[in-house]
Amino acid sequence: MQPSQRLSRLLLLISLIAPLPCAADGNLTSLANLFIGTASGRNGGSGGNAFPGAAVPHGMAKVGIDVDTAPRQAGYIHDNSSITGISLMHDEGTGGNTNGGYGIFPLFPLANCAFSSCPVGLDARKALRAANVDVASPGYFATQFVNGIKIETTSTRRAGLIRFTYPLAQVNHVVIDLTNDLQRSFEGGSISISPSDQTIKLGGTFLQSYGTDNYTAFACYNFKTSAGASTPFTSFGTFQSTSTSTPANIAVSVNSTSLSFPFTSSVNRVQAGGLVSFNSSTILARFGISFINAEQACANADAEVPTWDWDAVQTSSRNQWEDVLSRVQIDTQVEDVTVTELLYSSLYRASLVPANVTGENPYWDSPFPFYDALFCSWDTFRTVHPLLSLTSPREWSEIVNTYIDGWRHTGFLPECRANTKAGYVQGGSDGMPILGDFAVKYATHAESLGVPTDDLYQALRDTAENTPPDWYRVGRQNTAWKAFGFIPTAWVDPSGSTGLPTREASRAYEYALGDFAVRQAGLALQKPAADITTYANRSMNFVNMWDASLTHDGFTGFAQRRFQVGYPFIFLQTPARPSIRPPTRAPGALTIMLASTNVSPMGLGNRVSHLIHSVVLGNEFLRPALDVYACDANGRPDNVRGPNHYFDKGYFQAGNEPSFEIPWVYHYANRPDLSALRVRQIVYKNFNTGIGGIPGNDDSGAMAALLTFHLLGLYPVPSSKQLLIGSPFLSSFTLSNNVFNTKTHFIVRNFDKTTLTGTPPAGSRIFVKTVRINGKASESLCWINFEDVVGGGEVEIEVDSDASAAAAAGCGPAPNALPDSLETGGFAA
Ligand SMILES: *[C@@H]1O[C@H](CO)[C@@H](O)[C@H](O)[C@H]1NC(C)=O
Ligand SMILES: *[C@@H]1O[C@H](CO)[C@@H](O)[C@H](O)[C@H]1NC(C)=O
Ligand SMILES: *[C@@H]1O[C@H](CO)[C@@H](O)[C@H](O)[C@H]1NC(C)=O
Ligand SMILES: *[C@@H]1O[C@H](CO)[C@@H](O)[C@H](O)[C@H]1NC(C)=O
Ligand SMILES: *[C@@H]1O[C@H](CO)[C@@H](O)[C@H](O)[C@H]1NC(C)=O
Ligand SMILES: *[C@@H]1O[C@H](CO)[C@@H](O)[C@H](O)[C@H]1NC(C)=O
Ligand SMILES: *[C@@H]1O[C@H](CO)[C@@H](O)[C@H](O)[C@H]1NC(C)=O
Repeated sequence: MQPSQRLSRLLLLISLIAPLPCAADGNLTSLANLFIGTASGRNGGSGGNAFPGAAVPHGMAKVGIDVDTAPRQAGYIHDNSSITGISLMHDEGTGGNTNGGYGIFPLFPLANCAFSSCPVGLDARKALRAANVDVASPGYFATQFVNGIKIETTSTRRAGLIRFTYPLAQVNHVVIDLTNDLQRSFEGGSISISPSDQTIKLGGTFLQSYGTDNYTAFACYNFKTSAGASTPFTSFGTFQSTSTSTPANIAVSVNSTSLSFPFTSSVNRVQAGGLVSFNSSTILARFGISFINAEQACANADAEVPTWDWDAVQTSSRNQWEDVLSRVQIDTQVEDVTVTELLYSSLYRASLVPANVTGENPYWDSPFPFYDALFCSWDTFRTVHPLLSLTSPREWSEIVNTYIDGWRHTGFLPECRANTKAGYVQGGSDGMPILGDFAVKYATHAESLGVPTDDLYQALRDTAENTPPDWYRVGRQNTAWKAFGFIPTAWVDPSGSTGLPTREASRAYEYALGDFAVRQAGLALQKPAADITTYANRSMNFVNMWDASLTHDGFTGFAQRRFQVGYPFIFLQTPARPSIRPPTRAPGALTIMLASTNVSPMGLGNRVSHLIHSVVLGNEFLRPALDVYACDANGRPDNVRGPNHYFDKGYFQAGNEPSFEIPWVYHYANRPDLSALRVRQIVYKNFNTGIGGIPGNDDSGAMAALLTFHLLGLYPVPSSKQLLIGSPFLSSFTLSNNVFNTKTHFIVRNFDKTTLTGTPPAGSRIFVKTVRINGKASESLCWINFEDVVGGGEVEIEVDSDASAAAAAGCGPAPNALPDSLETGGFAA
C-alpha cells in the first residue's frame, strides 16, 4: 500500500469517530460509513446485520470476513470476536438464521507453521484482529490480525481479489476451506487443486439461511505472489477430519490434489479443504463464483479480473458506487454533517441487494435478468423498491423482470428468494406491490426498459388467483381469500394446499394490499374495467377480519382471527394482549391501524383513508390493531388520539417494517405538522452513524431506504404515484433519474438546522407552509406526484415556525389535499 493510501485509510478510520470531512466534488463514496449497523445483536444489541465488505452495487460477490460468534447474519461483527476466514458471498442486513447466510469457501492466511502441521481447522486457526484496524469503503475492505497478517479485498460482480500481506518474507500459507460456510451446513461437495497453474476449484451444497432448502455454489481461486508472472506453490495439499465424530482432528495430505464428499441429506460435520504455500510475504488470490459450475466460476474470474489489476478493480467498484450515490446530490459544504453521512451511508446500503446473478440461474434458461437475495419482498417493497423507482429505474426494471420471470417459470412471483431458493412467506406475496408500483410509474417506458407489461399483469393476476401447494414458500392462500373474503382460522383446504396457518389477520391485510396492486396495474395498463372493479373490491376485504366489538387499552375495534363458519362473524375470543403477543418481543407489540372507537367493520372500509395503500397492516405475528382515527362528517379522519397513544404507550417498533409508515399517518388525519415532528423524533431516537445506528435488522437495505426517505422528506405510497411530503432534513437536494434523463431540484426555503434534533425547539421552522412545483403552488401540502419528483423541474418547500397555523392548515383547503384513499374515491385513473 502506498503511503498516501495508508494515510487515506487512516483518515477513514478517524472519520468513524470524528465528523466526516466534506467530500470533494465527485467523492461521495468517502461519505459512506460502511460500519453503521454492524454492532453485535447479542444481549439486546442493535443488530443491524449490515454487510461492510467489498461489493459492487447489486453485486453477487460480497467479500468479507466472518466472526466466530453468533449472531452474525452478514458474517461481520464490529467487535473483538475472532475471525475464521474471509469468504465470498454474504447477505445484507437480514434476520433469519443467526449463524448467517453464505460465508462460503473462506480463505485463511497462516504463517509460522510447518506445512503438514498448520492449524487449518476452524477453531485452531481463528485469530483476533488488532484493535481498530478494520477499514471499509465502497469497493474495499481491509483488516489486520494481531499477528500482523493483513487482509484486503476488492471485487467485481462475480469475481474479485483478496490480498494477504504477511509480516515476514518466508514460506507463508493460505487455507482454502471447502466445508465451513457460516452455518456449518455442508452437505457434500469437492475441491480440486491444479498445481501447474495454481488454480483451485470448489463446489458445495449448503443450507439456505431462511427456508428449508439447500443450494449449490461454486468457486474458483487462482493464486499468485503478485499480479505479475505466476510462481509455483512451495507446497500444496488437502486436509480433512480424520473422522466425522471428531471433526477438529484434522490431517494434512501433502501433494494431494482433490477431495470429494458425496451429497448427504443431513449436514456433514467434516472439515476439509486445501492448503497452499508460497515463499513470499504477499499472496494474491483471484476468485470467481458461480451457481452453475466451477468452470464458469473460473471463466467469471477471467472475464471480470483479466489482468489481476487491483487498482483497476477497486477504482471501477468505487466509480460504480459514485454513480449510484450521485443520484442524490447535495451541497456537502452546506448540509449537516451527520445527515450527510446518514444519507450516503443509507444510499450505499440500499443498493447492495438484490444481487444481480444474471447468467447464474441454475434452474431455467431465460433471456431475462436473474436476481437473488430478494430477502424478503415483505421487507423491501415498502422503501427499497420505491427508492429504486426514483433514482435507479434501469436496475429496478431488471429486478422487476426477475419477479416476472420467476412467475413465468414457477407460476408465482418469488417472495423471499435467497441462496437461489424460496425462503419463507411472511405475509402476502409482496412482489405484487412491487410490480404494481412499476406498472403505475413506468408503464409508458416499460417497452424500452424491456419489461413485458402483459406478462407483468398476468403474473399479478395469477398470483392473485391461484393457490400454490405450499403458500409458505410462494403465493397466497387464495382458495380461502376468494371463497370467504377473509382467511379463516383452523380451516383445512380441501385441495390439500397448505402453509403456515397463522397470521390470518396480517396476511389478509397484505393480500388486500396485493389486490390493490393488481387494481392499480390494471388501470395503468388499461386492462378491462371488470378486472379493475374485481380487484378494487377484493382489496377491501380485509374489513372481514375486523372485530368491531373488540376492546383493548381504551380503543374498540381490532383486526382479529375468525372461524370460517358463523354469522355475522364469530371471532376467536382472544383479545387479551398477553395471549396473542409473542412473549419474546417487547415492547411495542401492538401494531397500529385504522379508525376510531366507533366504526363498524364495513364503516371502516368506507371511511378510513389509508387502509389500502398503507402498510400499517398487522405484522408477521397476529397482533391486534389499534383503531386510530375518528372521522368527521365528511368521512375524513380528524382524530390523532390513536397515533399519539400508540407512540406514547411505546407500541411503535422502529426496527420492524410494518411500523415504517406510522410516523407519517398523521397526514391522513390532516395533521402533517405532527408527522414532521414525529419523523424527527423517530429518526434521532433510532438512527445514528455508530455501529449500533440502525434500530433493527437493516433487512436488505429496507431500513437504509426508509431513512433516506425520512431525510428527503418523502414517503412512498405503495402501488401508487403518490409520495407523502414531509419536512426535509436538507436545505436542498437533486434527484437524478436515468430513464427520464432528469434532475429534479428540491429547495427548502427558510430551512432551519435547529430542527435537526429529536425535539425541534419551539419556534424552529419545521412545518411545511407552501409547496411550489415549477413555480406553481401545489394544492396539497401533504403529497406530491411521482411525475413531479422525477420530472426534472424544481420543487420548492417553504417551512415555517408557526405551529398553530400549520395545525390549522393541515394538508390545505383543496378537495384533494389529503393523500388518496381508494374507498373515498382516491386513486382514480
Ligand atoms: C475521496 O475522499 C477521501 C477522503 O477524504 C480521500 O482519501 C480520497 O483520496 C478521495 N478520492 C478521490 C478519488 O478524490
Ligand atoms: C471483548 O469485548 C468484550 C466487550 O467489550 C469484553 O468484555 C471482552 O473482555 C473482550 N475480549 C477480549 C479478548 O478482548
Ligand atoms: C437438496 O437436498 C435434497 C435432499 O434433501 C436433494 O435431493 C437435492 O438435490 C439438494 N439440492 C441441491 C441444489 O443440491
Ligand atoms: C510432494 O511432491 C514433491 C514433488 O514431486 C516431492 O518432492 C515431495 O517429496 C512430495 N512430498 C510428499 C510428502 O509426498
Ligand atoms: C525463501 O526465499 C528466500 C529468498 O527469497 C530464500 O533465501 C529461502 O531459502 C527461501 N525459503 C524456502 C523454504 O524456499
Ligand atoms: C446485471 O448483469 C447483467 C449480466 O452481466 C448485465 O447485463 C446487467 O447490466 C447487470 N445489471 C446491472 C444493473 O448492472
Ligand atoms: C364490487 O362491489 C360492489 C359493491 O359491493 C358491487 O356492487 C359490485 O358488484 C362488485 N363488483 C365486482 C366485480 O365484484
